[in-house]
Amino acid sequence: MTEKVMLVGSGGREDAIARAITRSGATLISAIGHENPSIKSLSSKYVIANELDYRKIEEFAVDNSVDIVFIGPDPVLDTPLVNNLLKRGIPVASPTMEAARIETSKMFMRELMKRHNIPGNLDFKECFSEEEVNEAFRSLDHDVAVKPIGLTGGKGVKVMGEQLKTVEEARSYALEVLRRDGVVLIEEKMVGEEFSLQAFVDGKNASFMPIVQDYKRAYEGDTGPNTGGMGSISDSTFTLPFLSDRAPEEARHIIIDIVRSMNSENTPFKGVMYGQFMDTPRGVKVIEINARFADPEGINVLSLLKSDFVETLHQIYDGNLQGDKIFEKKATVLKYIVPVGYGSDPKPGEIELDREIFQNGVDVLYASVSGDMYRLKQTTSRSLAIIAKAESIPEASDIVDSSIAHVKGNYYVRKDIGRSEFIESKIRKSMALLGDEKFTRIQR
Ligand code: AMP
Ligand code: GLY
Repeated sequence: MTEKVMLVGSGGREDAIARAITRSGATLISAIGHENPSIKSLSSKYVIANELDYRKIEEFAVDNSVDIVFIGPDPVLDTPLVNNLLKRGIPVASPTMEAARIETSKMFMRELMKRHNIPGNLDFKECFSEEEVNEAFRSLDHDVAVKPIGLTGGKGVKVMGEQLKTVEEARSYALEVLRRDGVVLIEEKMVGEEFSLQAFVDGKNASFMPIVQDYKRAYEGDTGPNTGGMGSISDSTFTLPFLSDRAPEEARHIIIDIVRSMNSENTPFKGVMYGQFMDTPRGVKVIEINARFADPEGINVLSLLKSDFVETLHQIYDGNLQGDKIFEKKATVLKYIVPVGYGSDPKPGEIELDREIFQNGVDVLYASVSGDMYRLKQTTSRSLAIIAKAESIPEASDIVDSSIAHVKGNYYVRKDIGRSEFIESKIRKSMALLGDEKFTRIQR
């Protein structure tokens, strides 16, 4: 009998994880929040469960005698599910509720970095009262980002010079978060290219995946409201052309330091850790640390992964990661098909896929849609991720764009992601910010 791997979650990222599990030859059992047509078709058994209904998911895992469990979405990590499964003797390759605090509490993450003197931390202040907020703004000599401390789906953070136009607007947003949550985090604002570095982590060691950049803004040219992510790119070099030479190494060190410091405090982290970093003139800085695959960035790396995924899950659980994992040396570009108005006032409709799309050299991942593989009903969230691999980022972008002709219906997609003008302008911006001597990899 093949082994049974249970996956929790039903978005585009989880579709990619489901495919990696079945590629390993394991039997997929899934707990899904909605009837994702792709995950359903890959699963030998599934239950429809609200992802926060940890008791139902736990019973389903026990009833099906699953051999190992993996969690996709962050809100699930903020429930007792992982701890309960472990107590019942079921292996899990995702972090406990205590270890997941590295994501679920931005305050825990900043304090841990401070306690252990880990490079990449920012100046930050936690405010628990109006007086503390007012005090923080009185002595302000730089721009700030205002953040709720908990999970926000990437949408609760506001930054001066972007969503917050004036100091007064920033102060009043901080007070709004404080009144709602009882606490607000005020962080020094950083400027630079952002990137995501994901790693498999077994409690003590980390094995790194290719670097990815995701695009959170709803509209072309990185404008409009923040979203869950409109698309993402990675390069065959496993870094990105607009990142300084030193950025990958600095980010890897930060993750290793975090893993070691969590272990030394008896909250070892097992699972996928994903750092969102910024390449600034003062070195690589941490924007946030997450306790799972990123969506969409997880899809990019899983499409390149050659090593056996399920074997890696066991190594994570056993605390016995074996060496570097193998990724195909290709560039990837992913663009999400989303409902019209996504990010502000989404108007879900229907989408139809021509069969030819599957002969176009792209993979189509199913996110918040229901229906069959060809006729889909959208929800207010992201619908389909279309991803291509090629020798270069612009080539992969062109392949995705040409396949979009086979997607019929009312939807929106950011075409600019991965195009050469877009990459070139980022390279120019980074060189101006950091100094062009820090980009020796670029042919000039
Ligand atoms: P987060 O939810 O923490 O990922 O934040 C969402 C977005 O806000 C990030 O992708 C950044 O673009 C921006 N952001 C967050 N913190 C900062 C910061 N300290 N400085 C500048 N931008 C930030
Ligand atoms: N790519 C953003 C996230 O997964 O949080």
